[in-house]
Amino acid sequence: MSSHKSIIFVAGARPNFMKIAPIIHALQARSDAPPWQLVHTGQHYDPSMSDVFFEQLRIPKPHKHLHVGSGSHGAQTAAILVGFEKYLQELPELPGAVIVVGDVNSTVACALAAVKMHIPVVHVEAGLRSFDRSMPEEINRLATDAIADLLLVSEPNGMTHLKNEGVSEERVRFVGNVMIDSLVAELPSARALNQCQVLQLDSGRYAFVTLHRPSNVDEAARLTAVVAFLEDLASKLPVVFPLHPRTREKLKQFELWERIASISALRILEPLAYRESLSLMATAKLVVTDSGGIQEETSYLRIPCLTLRPNTERPITVSHGTSTVGEDLNRARETVDAILAGQYKKGQDIEGWDGHAAERVIDAVVELLV
Ligand code: UD1
Repeated sequence: MSSHKSIIFVAGARPNFMKIAPIIHALQARSDAPPWQLVHTGQHYDPSMSDVFFEQLRIPKPHKHLHVGSGSHGAQTAAILVGFEKYLQELPELPGAVIVVGDVNSTVACALAAVKMHIPVVHVEAGLRSFDRSMPEEINRLATDAIADLLLVSEPNGMTHLKNEGVSEERVRFVGNVMIDSLVAELPSARALNQCQVLQLDSGRYAFVTLHRPSNVDEAARLTAVVAFLEDLASKLPVVFPLHPRTREKLKQFELWERIASISALRILEPLAYRESLSLMATAKLVVTDSGGIQEETSYLRIPCLTLRPNTERPITVSHGTSTVGEDLNRARETVDAILAGQYKKGQDIEGWDGHAAERVIDAVVELLV
């Protein structure tokens, strides 16, 4: 690498950590790696939402922690913007590139701070679109892609979206899915943990559930319907449900805590570490989620996934993977029955989801730096 300019990596919230880890490792593996730093914005701060991912995914300790914490979207995004700009201003020399991943508030805030200081911004996982502007992540995706210099795309639909938006081809590269790199690297250790046995569940005979999106948990009527769906699900097979802090808070606020806690075949867990979560997903009969990444992970693992959302920014998980998307809970009940009856799609390989996307990210960044 001829440039000596440094690279700044940004991570802030749980889904960022499994994306940034393989990219940092791919950079470290190069003998000609330029200097680099990792900034943690502190969007997620509970040890179970952050520290444990650093340990398991061997992410080096951040060089800088902004400690922004929670807040409204405006307050949180603004705090990250101010904190990251100050960090950049205090560096002895401006970096050659800032790398942001995914679609969380930290992604857009840091991209904006950097681009205004004329620092090239690389967006990893560019081009995804749900076409649903009520999702905060969709706004983050659109805004980040509009201002980033280099857009690195994880699934073929992303290329089409960016083309349709008139983005010039020089700004775009297809690199594949870095989150699958983490999965490929960690799957043997995850399987060895055998979490289903630890929880006294039979392999292939339980459902794994994660739900945290505002559209499922922030309104009492919807969350009540979701709890009724989980009651039904637990009457068909055992259920494990690691709880995001937002979901826990809402269940208590809407007085649904007693009801969900009394479902005998449903086990509530604390948020899980990466390997524990992967271990439970890999041997589940089915997964119910509203996460972005889990649709992809289950597709790679070929585990049926019900995505309780009206739409997805990851349509390849429906066309080629194992996800079924929809918020209608009666349809979801029918899908569960189809899965249990063995009548469900099996999924297929997806281009660029091969465990080597991070190396392609670093190749593209190197090209940008020279
Ligand atoms: C964020 C991302 C979302 C991602 C999710 C994964 C945005 C817009 N959303 O949503 O895309 O799927 O992370 O978790 O960036 N909290 C804690 N401890 C923590 C972090 C949060 O208790 O470590 C609680 C706080 O009460 C906070 C709430 O969770 O107010 C929501 O956190 P926030 O970062 O605002 O959004 P997420 O729902 O986690």
